[in-house]
Amino acid sequence: MDNLDDLKSELAGMITDATDMHALEQVRVSALGKKGQITALMKGLGAMDPEARKSAGQELNLLKQEITDLIEARKFDLENAGLDERLAKEKIDITLPIRPEEHGTIHPISQTIDELVSIFGEMGFVVAEGPNIEEDWYNFTALNIPVDHPARQEHDTFYVNAEKEEQRMVLRTHTSPVQIRTMQSQEPPIRIIVPGRTYRCDHDATHSPMFHQIEGLVIDEKTHMGHLKGCLIEMCRAYFGIDELPVRFRPSYFPFTEPSAEVDIGCSFEGGTLKIGNFDDWLEILGSGMVNPNVLENCGIDSTKYQGFAFGMGIERMAMLKYGIPDLRTFYDTDLRWLKHYGFQPLDVPSLVGRAGL
Ligand code: DAH
Repeated sequence: MDNLDDLKSELAGMITDATDMHALEQVRVSALGKKGQITALMKGLGAMDPEARKSAGQELNLLKQEITDLIEARKFDLENAGLDERLAKEKIDITLPIRPEEHGTIHPISQTIDELVSIFGEMGFVVAEGPNIEEDWYNFTALNIPVDHPARQEHDTFYVNAEKEEQRMVLRTHTSPVQIRTMQSQEPPIRIIVPGRTYRCDHDATHSPMFHQIEGLVIDEKTHMGHLKGCLIEMCRAYFGIDELPVRFRPSYFPFTEPSAEVDIGCSFEGGTLKIGNFDDWLEILGSGMVNPNVLENCGIDSTKYQGFAFGMGIERMAMLKYGIPDLRTFYDTDLRWLKHYGFQPLDVPSLVGRAGL
């Protein structure tokens, strides 16, 4: 144990010379690790007689403590030096001008859905949804459109190469099948609004193979045509923000409603530009009617007790009319310049509530 002082100054020198954490760790292992110099001396204590062991043990423990302290102190210095170096290097120039922030915008389709849902929400409607890949029965048959009905051809249906319980599957051609699913799963009173994607094999400036509709359905014991008219007139006036907007109900035909009406709003085409709200022409915007009793019975609802109305409209068309978007195909071009122009700021939903007497 005579040379403990030499060992101490040798180790202390190595600790001071260690210029990084890795080198310091090597010094620690060579002194205090399993095969380290101090550890080896500790092991030697067992062979000594008790008197010598006692004083040698104390000296060794002291040495071990001193070396451990030196290593800790060096570690602290090395860490601080690293921090100082980073602080010196990573200067932030607070005089630099900020980088322009890129804001995303809300797509006009999403905006229009939000606006319509909020208007109908005010009237007590709740949102319902259904599958995009639909069974033939829900898309057609249950809606009183039998197999040989001409309306099937008009829909330009995409048939999917799959069957479910012998039902041919289609990409739904309208949101109306969600009426059926809701009437099957819920007891009246029902008051739903169904925004969603729809598909038809058609493509030009006013048609896209994928487009959006919003469907409405009200079923209870007393709802009549007057409610249908009141609800849709309010919706048109609130959506277009024109209190006196003329709204006309024109007799029409849909297999799932009887009687049926198409809804037109007053407009003009002065100098080739469409102006909504002026009163010398009409523009069709949606289909509606009293739910056909056959449809109620197809869903297991007693048509002698319950009645109601339904309606459906194209969301792209509503957006094009309100926001002056001329070509339907541009909705899906994913052109950022278009989105910047026609898109909306988040939380920028114009307040519709309170307009048109809502
Ligand atoms: N499903 C019709 C279509 O796609 C729109 C429609 C008309 C829905 C009348 C209805 C309705 O619920 O009552 O053209």
